[in-house]
Amino acid sequence: MRDKVREQAIEKIGCSPAFYSNLIKQEGNSTVRKEGRTLDRLAIDGGYPVRVQPLPLEFPGVHYMGEDEIEAAIRIVSSRSLFRFYGVDLQKEVETFESEFAQFLGVSHALSVSSGTGALNTALSALGAGPGQEIIIPAYLWVSVASAVVSHGAIPVLADIDDTFCLDPNSIEERITPRTSGIIVVHMSGVPADIERIQQVARRHSLFLLEDCAQCCGGSVEGRKVGTFGDMAAFSFQMNKNMTSGEGGSVVTNDDRLYRRAFACHDLGYARDQAGRLSFSDLDYCLWGEGYRLDELRAALLRVQLKKLPKIIERMRHSKYRIRHALERFPQVRLRRIIDPLGDTGCFLITTYPNAEFAKTVNRALRAEGIVTSPQGLNNVVMTDWGLHIYYSIASLVNQTSVDGRGFPWKLAENAGSQYSYEKGACPVADSLFERSIIVAIPSCLTEHDEDDIITAFEKVLREIVPSSRARDNGE
Ligand SMILES: Cc1ncc(COP(=O)(O)O)c(C=O)c1O
Repeated sequence: MRDKVREQAIEKIGCSPAFYSNLIKQEGNSTVRKEGRTLDRLAIDGGYPVRVQPLPLEFPGVHYMGEDEIEAAIRIVSSRSLFRFYGVDLQKEVETFESEFAQFLGVSHALSVSSGTGALNTALSALGAGPGQEIIIPAYLWVSVASAVVSHGAIPVLADIDDTFCLDPNSIEERITPRTSGIIVVHMSGVPADIERIQQVARRHSLFLLEDCAQCCGGSVEGRKVGTFGDMAAFSFQMNKNMTSGEGGSVVTNDDRLYRRAFACHDLGYARDQAGRLSFSDLDYCLWGEGYRLDELRAALLRVQLKKLPKIIERMRHSKYRIRHALERFPQVRLRRIIDPLGDTGCFLITTYPNAEFAKTVNRALRAEGIVTSPQGLNNVVMTDWGLHIYYSIASLVNQTSVDGRGFPWKLAENAGSQYSYEKGACPVADSLFERSIIVAIPSCLTEHDEDDIITAFEKVLREIVPSSRARDNGE
């Protein structure tokens, strides 16, 4: 009998069983209608929110940290050998992690570095980036991609994105000039780009292809891991990545020469011999060092996290696709195009709406329903508020800032033919997608209850809020 009442209440209210149980727990059965606040009213209109507890923070690898990482850290500190090349009791953790990571991806070489930004810089040095070159980057990116290009004295050229939210191969073709030397493709927000088509463009025009896999470690297309399509690839193991050691990164390649150049550049500018001593015998690998070596402690943590990575990804992907499937029946929501759902790492959900005003209202309503994290987390925002991921929000790029105060690299004679604007308007498809889309992080520890709440909140909001009539004109 009680179950029947419960079922009827759930049906009448139109909420999930989890939402109902939560409400009853918080308020008691009698408060389904109390002081005019009802379950079916939106929280922004004074109704009950779907949840009152913030969602768990993002940081995928962090939720899986435990005894194994503690044991690894103790082991390395106890060895008192924290430097990768020599020590009183060398553990060779960095070297071992490199072969394990290379094997995981299916590449010949992995070089550990101290950050994803370091990985991009090291890779661009190995690829010979410099003044007089234009390097194509996507409108949706992370600031480090632009900064690595600029630091090398080359000119970043923005290309537009498509509904994958990654580089549009057609836009790349349009932005190629005789000065273009390469493309940096970024697998954004957990999902691989249309990498096979982008690879074809790079080959057709004899350009280098550098994959930035910082946000998509473990992602794949048709079973082939991201990071194996380009001439080189960069990874980050910063705290908000699929696997983490707090800070860290990797540069991977199948090319021996590029690997040896990267090795020299990430260190002191030179090769090393078997004993870890600097070697000056081959002038091809006597370069300039950038100081991005990784230490043994973080490599030991990464070895543990790498073993957990498939589980972390599986968990996020499961949560994400439960939510995505529930949203499929709402015609006013467009879901991000995913080239290969089995290769999606699942850490973010992006939904797109007919116009900017509608997206903003849905986002405000979802946040009022409790689809937020604590103030420390940045979750559930309209993408125009997604900070340094959005090209026109990167002030140093828009203003063409130089650290030398004399216009490097923008005003170098070698770059005279490369004048570009980075202001809003440079990539119209991205501009439209950013203002019409909402990004929600999918933590690796969501319970079924959390997932139910996210689904219920979307359903509640999308049932109530309808786009205005001019809404539907804006899709591309
Ligand atoms: C796409 C992308 N590239 C590069 C980086 C830089 O990595 P790191 O913070 O480890 O320097 C990040 C980090 O957030 C990123 O998201």
